[in-house]
Amino acid sequence: MIRDMTAADVNAVLAIEQSVQPYPWTLGNFNDALQAGYVARVVVNDGVIQGFMVWYPLPDEAELLNIGVAEAYQRQGVARALLADMVITARTQARQRVFLEVRVSNVPAITLYCRTGFAVAGERRNYYKNAQGSENALVMVCELKGAGDE
Ligand SMILES: CC(C)(COP(=O)(O)OP(=O)(O)OC[C@H]1O[C@@H](n2cnc3c(N)ncnc32)[C@H](O)[C@@H]1OP(=O)(O)O)[C@@H](O)C(=O)NCCC(=O)NCCS
Repeated sequence: MIRDMTAADVNAVLAIEQSVQPYPWTLGNFNDALQAGYVARVVVNDGVIQGFMVWYPLPDEAELLNIGVAEAYQRQGVARALLADMVITARTQARQRVFLEVRVSNVPAITLYCRTGFAVAGERRNYYKNAQGSENALVMVCELKGAGDE
C-alpha cells in the first residue's frame, strides 16, 4: 500500500536513502520536508517500508525532490507505483506538469522516468557533487495536461 510518510517512518526512510544514494538527504532534510508540508509518501508491505518519495507542490506544478527504493525491493514496480501516485494527485489538483532533476550518470532513474512519461527538457551544468567534483543534471518534465482536459 501507499500512504503518507509520518515522523515515525523517517528513520526507516533515512536508512533506505543512505543505502541507495551516494549523497543522501539527512534526517533534518526529511523532517523539514514533512514540516514544510511537502508531499511525502511511502510504499509499505507487511509492515516494511520498501520505498519513498517526496515532492513539492508549486502553484501550477509539482517538483519531484526525492525517490528511493530499498535494494531488496527494486525492479518490482515500487518506484513506478510511487510516480503514478504522484501523477494522479497532481492531476487531481489541476497541476500542469511535474519536473525533476536527475544526475546524468543515473541510468536506472533516467530509464524509470523515460518509461513513466517524462522527457528531457534541459540540462543544468555542475548541478551535483560527485567524486570527480561535479556532474550535470538532466531536467525532465512530465506534462499532465492531456487531450480532453481543455
Ligand atoms: C531509480 C529507482 C528509484 C527505481 O526504483 P524501482 O522500484 O526499482 O523501479 P521500478 O521497479 O518501478 O522500475 C520501473 C521501470 O524503470 C526502469 N528501471 C528501474 N530500475 C532500473 C535499472 N536499474 N536499470 C534499468 N532500468 C531500470 C525499468 O524500465 C523498469 O521497468 P521493468 O522493471 O519492467 O524493466 C531505484 O533504483 C533507486 O532507489 N535508486 C537509487 C535512488 C535514486 O537514484 N533515486 C532517483 C534520484 S533522481
